Amino acid sequence: MSRIFSGVQPTGNLHLGNYLGAIRNWVRLQEEYECLFCLVDLHAITVWQAPDELRRNTREVTAGLLAAGLDPKRTVIFNQSQVSGHAQLAWIFNCVTRLGWLNRMTQFKEKAGKQRENASSGLYVYPNLMAADILLYKATHVPVGEDQKQHLELSRDIAQKFNSDFGVDFFPLIEPLIMGEATRVMSLRDGSQKMSKSDASEYSRINMTDDADAIALKIRRARTDPHPMPEAPDEFAERPEAGNLMGLFAGLSDTSVEDVCKRYGGEQFSTFKQQLADLAVSVLGPIQDEMRRLTAEPDHVDAVLRDGVERARALAAPVLDAVFEIVGFLRP
Ligand code: AMP
Ligand code: TRP
Repeated sequence: MSRIFSGVQPTGNLHLGNYLGAIRNWVRLQEEYECLFCLVDLHAITVWQAPDELRRNTREVTAGLLAAGLDPKRTVIFNQSQVSGHAQLAWIFNCVTRLGWLNRMTQFKEKAGKQRENASSGLYVYPNLMAADILLYKATHVPVGEDQKQHLELSRDIAQKFNSDFGVDFFPLIEPLIMGEATRVMSLRDGSQKMSKSDASEYSRINMTDDADAIALKIRRARTDPHPMPEAPDEFAERPEAGNLMGLFAGLSDTSVEDVCKRYGGEQFSTFKQQLADLAVSVLGPIQDEMRRLTAEPDHVDAVLRDGVERARALAAPVLDAVFEIVGFLRP
């Protein structure tokens, strides 16, 4: 593995899906690899963001990443809009990607919904910007949750098409890193929907900022079924809500879903739910304390981003220069 890149939208409500699907893995990977982690504010504005909230959320999500254990000395943490190469390379990719490829993206279909004619053009070309984020640093490995897999396959196709259109071997192939037992955390209210920042129901997700009482209440209210708990993961397909809660337990306790099935299979949900709530509080509690401390220190958070932006710009500049040369932009 050479270089790692990943991104998170600074849109508030960081939740357990973000933590188990992505952020916790980032914290582990930084121990061994050169990493860049990006607050993707350009992606965020593909749907409406109130400016003051965007600023506040960018600081809050940065604080969340730091509180979870990202080390700004080791790792480059920055916000996307401040490195102009992201938008520049994305434009070039707009001219590489074929419409047919974008038409297959399920996330666009989900997000645009019935309002397709009214969706922003940014939302449509969002995957091109994502490819640019990664390839601007020639990153090879991208740790994300399961929901981003299709976008990363597209990024790979874009890199390949760029190389073959221009007859170069310039961009590396991208490998998704989908790690752990909770790569697709589902809504607590509906096992067919992923846990999401934008779900209208607060009971659908556990926010990283929820206190112990809120966590316990949400887990108590989480939808289950009337049967005793599954004894093996092959029952999860028919019982998605049970599978989701047991996957959360496995993710939070760093064990396997098989182990969780062995331990709780055949029991009632009530005791398990209490223990899952205690476990979530014990994992999230220390992160929340640190988040509160950092939220009270916006200058520190800004300084981390400033430093990250500088380092990211320095890494991006030679790659963008080489791309301009390959594409044939005259630099008089
Ligand atoms: P986003 O909040 O959409 O910017 O996502 C940031 C990261 O969290 C990405 O790597 C996503 O794949 C991951 N993620 C978001 N929601 C979930 C979920 N429900 N389960 C697992 N991973 C998720
Ligand atoms: N699209 C990702 C999400 O919504 C965020 C993202 C933007 C990203 N650029 C990226 C993730 C580059 C990995 C690599 O979760």
